[in-house]
Amino acid sequence: MATDVWKPQLYARFRAERSRPFYDLLAMVRERPGMRVVDLGCGTGELTADAHKRLRARSTLGIDSSPAMLEKAAPLAGDGLAFAQGDIAVFEDPTGAGYDLVLSNAALHWLPDHPALLARLVRLLAPGGQLAVQVPANQTHASHRLANELAREEPFASALQGYVRHRSVLTPVEYALQMKRLGLVDEESRLQVYVHELSEPADVVEWCRGTLLTDYERRLPPELWQRYLDAYRSRVGAALPDEHPYLYTYQRILFSGRRPR
Ligand SMILES: C[S@@+](CC[C@H](N)C(=O)[O-])C[C@H]1O[C@@H](n2cnc3c(N)ncnc32)[C@H](O)[C@@H]1O
Repeated sequence: MATDVWKPQLYARFRAERSRPFYDLLAMVRERPGMRVVDLGCGTGELTADAHKRLRARSTLGIDSSPAMLEKAAPLAGDGLAFAQGDIAVFEDPTGAGYDLVLSNAALHWLPDHPALLARLVRLLAPGGQLAVQVPANQTHASHRLANELAREEPFASALQGYVRHRSVLTPVEYALQMKRLGLVDEESRLQVYVHELSEPADVVEWCRGTLLTDYERRLPPELWQRYLDAYRSRVGAALPDEHPYLYTYQRILFSGRRPR
């Protein structure tokens, strides 16, 4: 498995802001008695544990590829809640029975080919089971645009061998259509804008360092990664208004659909 650059502490720094969309997603879930749930890309597991409790699920399995994130999650296991290392791209239901809920919050944007991925996820559903997903869609914000702009410039472009973070996230319309085509019912798909009040524009760098920049961090040698980060910090500083608090707008797509019984 590739180098693990996830930093649970850095990721947790904006916990309140990051958990809001999760609870909006959870509000889209139709609770049923004794659910069997899988949370794909569960991270440090606090939200998985909360979903497990709120849904009064019979069992919930959190899957993540990062040992650092899973190490934080491990102590939360018990009472039907478990965590395991795995890759969403190849994850299969070990029992073959299908899940009543396939949940994924802020993780699927790390995987390519969403039409094929959704088809896989739908196959994980039991009859009547629900798919509920939240993916970031903030690529037009300077924080995301500048990260890729820099990756296209030297010396980073050569070190990255031309790699620029891909954009696999579809539009809300495409997710709605994909779900319909895959035979799901009660489909819902929406774009939501969150406005996060950060104390200063520099916080945006810390926010992105905990997520999207990890993609460049693991591909660059340490010395170049530091140069990349310094350059990113100064570009973001120049691009964003010097407001205190800084209002960081963040677009996300939430979608859900149910497999007929
Ligand atoms: C932004 S975090 C979200 C964590 C959690 N769902 C939350 O809302 O706090 C994304 C997580 O997805 C995991 N991830 C990314 N690609 C993955 C893959 N292919 N298979 C499993 N986990 C993956 C990362 O390790 C990370 O913990």
